[in-house]
This record gives sequence, structure tokens and C-alpha cells, in this order.
Amino acid sequence: MKTHRIAVIPGDGIGPEVLAEGVKVLKEVAKRDGRFAFQFEYFPWGCEYYLRTGEMMEPGGIEKLKEFEAIFLGAVGYPGVPDHISLWGLLLTIRKNFEQYVNLRPVRLLEGAPCPLKDVDRKDIDMIFVRENSEGEYAGNGSWLFKGKPHEVVLQEGVFSRHGCERIIRYAYELARKQGKTLTSVSKGNALNYSMVFWDQIFQEVGQEYPDVKTQSYLVDAASMFMVKDPGRFQIVVTSNLFGDILTDLGAAISGGMGLAAGANLNPEREFPSMFEPIHGSAPDIAGQGKANPLATVWSASQMLDFFGYEDWGKRLIEIIEEILKEKRVLTPDLGGTATTCQVGDEVVKKIWQ
Ligand code: NAD
Ligand code: IPM
Ligand code: MN
Repeated sequence: MKTHRIAVIPGDGIGPEVLAEGVKVLKEVAKRDGRFAFQFEYFPWGCEYYLRTGEMMEPGGIEKLKEFEAIFLGAVGYPGVPDHISLWGLLLTIRKNFEQYVNLRPVRLLEGAPCPLKDVDRKDIDMIFVRENSEGEYAGNGSWLFKGKPHEVVLQEGVFSRHGCERIIRYAYELARKQGKTLTSVSKGNALNYSMVFWDQIFQEVGQEYPDVKTQSYLVDAASMFMVKDPGRFQIVVTSNLFGDILTDLGAAISGGMGLAAGANLNPEREFPSMFEPIHGSAPDIAGQGKANPLATVWSASQMLDFFGYEDWGKRLIEIIEEILKEKRVLTPDLGGTATTCQVGDEVVKKIWQ
């Protein structure tokens, strides 16, 4: 029997609450299936760990994580530790070190999920964002000159390498070809006269190899408008790190909210572990109250099952989420219900065995 070794990083705020349900669901899937098993190892890293030790993860943490096939992460960041310290000390470091250059984020309005858009065909909200996840605006490079002086100057550099742009754009073309979908590039070449002009050029260049894939290019401001007014225009979307971050929160808003938005940070070559996480943060406003919706985490678990080749289970978990949304019996408060995080997890488990 195949055993998958998973590193679990619950993190901060609602991270541990939603991840407990994600782990529970994966365990039950394996039990029900019988062909494979999971072995989970927990790493107590995050903001509390930082306040005790001065580090977000233990020394050599990246080396330890390398041994695993995948990482399952809750959320990172909490009041009391500056966000740029906590996120660069853990989440962003993992994405970068493990070349998880593909951030795959489905934006799909499941049946039964609430949608704030009027006059929109619900079936039109069905996209997959392919977000560049290793460089761009998140290169983490810059300088702070004359800090604290009246003439201080801050520089934040974007890095768009040919290697980095080509590999993410090629991944998106391949996905569009495989799924027979259109591919939309979102950029901003009118104002960002180096980085995004380059991005657009690479999109064209790589596109020469995919004459069968129908493409569109939008400026990010217009793309945000169309996502609300006419979301049916988008199928597979490829975009930069920062634009992808922002547009996928907008995507969450039109497809049921943060409690339903999932993401996978993939190293497609499988040289390093990939990481699966809900796209939401640690939600300090509801942490510790059992109110967090674990379904985004369950959806990320479904992405992990797909990645391991158990697509039948990946699909089944999405169906289960949809059944729960349609039945409206066991939902957390963000979806208008009164159930707890744990009760929603239990409902998923119940359906795994049905
Ligand atoms: P957030 O996503 O944590 O919360 C935004 C809003 O959505 C809040 O009102 C919250 O209650 C709600 N929400 C989020 N997830 C929910 C869920 N599962 N169920 C129900 N409601 C949910 O964003 P924020 O408040 O901007 O950030 C809080 C902290 O999390 C910050 O430190 C931020 O840097 C960090 N953050 C981490 C990640 C990550 O680890 N991947 C992602 C985003 C933000
Ligand atoms: C996300 C988050 C992270 C990002 C933050 C916490 C650094 O918002 O995963 O969407 O911007 O990538
Ligand atoms: Mn985000």
C-alpha cells in the first residue's frame, strides 16, 4: 500500500481549526479507499512559535520539509507579529525555496453557494487562475534608504525573468490545451512599461507553440471589471503574483466567499514538495470560536488528491462540498448557517462513507 508523507503546518488563527478538518477528511478518504494511506507529521510553526523563539520556523526547517511529498498548511500571520516578518519567515519562504511556481486557484461557483452578482449566469463563474508564485512583484528585493530621515526613500523591485515568465505561461497554455478551454492573460503593459511589456511579449512568444489555444489579453483594471460584470469571459487565466493574489480574493467574493476558496502551490517537476492551503488568512476576527468554514481547506485537500493521482476522490470531495451547500443543513455562519467548523468536517466525513 502506498503511504504519502505529509507535513502539516496548522499555523495561526483559524489555521489549526480548519486544518484539523482537512486532515480528518484525508484520513477518512484513505481509510474508505484502502489503496493508500497518509502519514502526517506536525510542525508547530507560526506566530506563537516566533514569540517564543524569535523565528517563524526552526533552523533547518526547509531541509526537514524537503523529505515530505506534500505540505498541508492552514494560515500564517497574527496581530503581534508584523505581517512581513511572519509571511516571509514561513509561507513565502516555502513557496520560493521549493519552486512552487504555479499557484493554482479554482474560482468556481458551486451549486448552492451564494453569489452577490445579479444578472449573471451562475455557470459562467468557472475559472482556474494560474498565478505566478515565485517572483514578480513578490521578489522580496528592495532597499530602504535614509530610514527615518525626512528624505527617506523606499525601493521595491519587481523581478520578471524569462525563465520565470516562460514556465508559468507555458503551464497555463498546457492546461488550456488539455482542458480545451480559452486562455486569458492579465497584465498591465500600459503603465508597467518594463515588466508587463515583457510579460505580454512572452505570452505571445509561447503562444506560437499553441495555435490551437484561443487566447485573450486584458489589462488588470478591465479584467477586474469584467470578472464582476461578465465573468463568463474567463476560463483559464494566467497572471502575475500580485495581480493573481488580488484577483483570486475577488474570485472568492463572487464564488461563495473566503470560506470556499482553495489553492495549490505546485512544483510541477515534483523535485520539491508542493503545498496545499486555503487562500484565506488566519481570520483573527473569528479565530478560536469554531466559526471558520473548513470547506476551502477540504477543497485544497481535493487538489492534493488530484495531484497524487486520485482524481476520482478529488472529484468526489468537490461533489460532497456541493451537496452540503445545496442541502444547507450544516453550514458555518459565513454561509448563513449555525454549524461549527468541526460539525462541517464531520458532515464531509459522513458523506465519504455514504
Ligand atoms: P483573512 O482571509 O484572514 O480574512 C478576511 C475576512 O474573511 C475576515 O472577515 C475573515 O473572518 C473571513 N474569513 C477568512 N477565512 C474564512 C473562513 N475559512 N471562514 C469564514 N470566514 C473567513 O484576511 P486578512 O484579515 O486580511 O488577514 C489576516 C491575517 O492572515 C494577516 O496576518 C494576513 O497577512 C494573513 N494572511 C495569510 C494568508 C495565508 O497564510 N495563506 C492568506 C491571507 C492573509
Ligand atoms: C495568499 C496570501 C499571501 C499572498 C500573503 C499572506 C503573503 O494573501 O496566499 O493569497 O499574497 O500570496
Ligand atoms: Mn491573498
